[in-house]
Amino acid sequence: MNNSIDVLIVGSGIAGLRAALEASKYSDNVKIISKLPVMRSHSVSAAGGINSVSIPSDSLHSYFSDTIKGSDFLADQDAVHILVNRANDEIKYLEEIGVDFDKFDTLYSTNKLGGAEFSRALNSSTQIGLSIMQALYDKVKQSDIDIFENWHVLDLIVDKNICFGLIAINKDTNEIRKFISNIVILATGPAGHIYKNTTNSTNCTGDGIAIAYRAGALLKDMEFIQFHPTSLIGSNILITERTRSAGAYLLNKNGERFMNKYAKSSLELAPRDIVSRSIIHEINNGLGFKDSNYGDYIELSFSHLSRSIIDDKLSDVKELASSLFNLDIKNNPLKIIPAQHYMMGGIKINIKCETSISNLYAAGECSCPSVHGANRLGGNSLIECLVFGKIAGSQINHFIKPDKYDVGNVNIDSYSSNLARLLNNIDYDYINNICIKLQSLMTSNVGIFRTKKSLIESSLLLSSIKLDLLSHNFSNSNNSEYSIFNYFELLNMIDVSETIITPSLLREESRGSHYRLDFPVRNDKDWLNHIIIQLHNSKSKTSFEPVILDDIIPDSRTY
Ligand code: FUM
Repeated sequence: MNNSIDVLIVGSGIAGLRAALEASKYSDNVKIISKLPVMRSHSVSAAGGINSVSIPSDSLHSYFSDTIKGSDFLADQDAVHILVNRANDEIKYLEEIGVDFDKFDTLYSTNKLGGAEFSRALNSSTQIGLSIMQALYDKVKQSDIDIFENWHVLDLIVDKNICFGLIAINKDTNEIRKFISNIVILATGPAGHIYKNTTNSTNCTGDGIAIAYRAGALLKDMEFIQFHPTSLIGSNILITERTRSAGAYLLNKNGERFMNKYAKSSLELAPRDIVSRSIIHEINNGLGFKDSNYGDYIELSFSHLSRSIIDDKLSDVKELASSLFNLDIKNNPLKIIPAQHYMMGGIKINIKCETSISNLYAAGECSCPSVHGANRLGGNSLIECLVFGKIAGSQINHFIKPDKYDVGNVNIDSYSSNLARLLNNIDYDYINNICIKLQSLMTSNVGIFRTKKSLIESSLLLSSIKLDLLSHNFSNSNNSEYSIFNYFELLNMIDVSETIITPSLLREESRGSHYRLDFPVRNDKDWLNHIIIQLHNSKSKTSFEPVILDDIIPDSRTY
């Protein structure tokens, strides 16, 4: 095991950087590998806020019970206790390393996001993701942590269910290399690019989930995909939930605040699954507006808000509308539509961030500690990345010392010859067409509303897309917009899509973000379980795991 790394972290977003900083307290041999430059990680775009308990009327128990109810009672309560109890320590840590949270005098300025009983989302000049990333990255630059940017991970090296490292390719030079490490931590973020309508960047291709799945790791809760209620039609640019927190209304074409039909007391601040479904109901009932280019939409209206609220709380949204459309949001509503935003599921981890493969850990959106269950609340994603990123980084001393496997024998020749074949023959237009087909399929058949028919159809179509791609006889075409890495990402996107469709078909109930038109009711008797999916002998295999309920008993979920 010479030249071995102690801890190798894949991904350089908030979870990855937090894990690296924690691991570096115990080792000077911590490395990060990332397919992107650090400050292009998707974490930088987070704008809604980060949850913690800071106002006097709030309590840890209220935060805990909001998160559990928001999850439609599918979250594992032991993991949610950890999230909630450790949130404030992470906020303190961020302040120590330079994050400047918005405050009035000495009190934090907070926003009440959807599904929260109290106002608990902190922000930093409307750019919370960027502020946290800058502070973490500055700290990493002052440490011994090495960063390998622009390396795309192809596969994990796993033998007898123990992880020894990974194989990656340099995106600038096409060099293929083995990275041998005592511990690997996957923190590769989301997979939203599998959907046509997503707030995620095009880099969010589910790479970590796919490589873990191919290595035999268990995945959990993959059927739960969050659609954010408010993205701009045409571009799917996220319009932050802070707009509704500041008082913006959702209006149908009759000018009605329609949320009072669906969530009488919380209205626009019901959890995202409920608000997104309500918007689509309105549209399906003919109550949406129509844009000649982009079709149906609903309005997000600010006209009743004072100038000072818009200027103080929504300066980013005001600037966005002004720069994109030359519009003043005070006088012009935004045209919005739900878009894929987040995955509640991912690589199954326990409360120590251990995956089902020894020496392989995960944290952040690619992982599933099951703190969000069937629906995540706004402000809970960044805090999860920090709390569980720290836990993952602290596992450095717990690796299993394998004695028999010789990683020197791991052969990368097949990767090199595959790459040479692809580089000589790749047809980028074809790759792009397959990608569009996949995104259309996931959007139309595995979206906010699902049925047995739509899911069976998607499963059959996905198999044919995969077969087509793997058996395609490439002939070269020069399309400089794309690169060979789009091919590797597409393979990952196809694998991740398979792991979403299979449990979506299996779960015959509606819970949180998973809404089956043919099974519209939550069914705790049969379905208060997680679905686990794993690749076994080249086929996906599912099993069930009970939800950990150590505090709150599932109840009705009205807002
Ligand atoms: O609405 C938003 O700004 C998103 C927040 C989040 O995903 O937590």
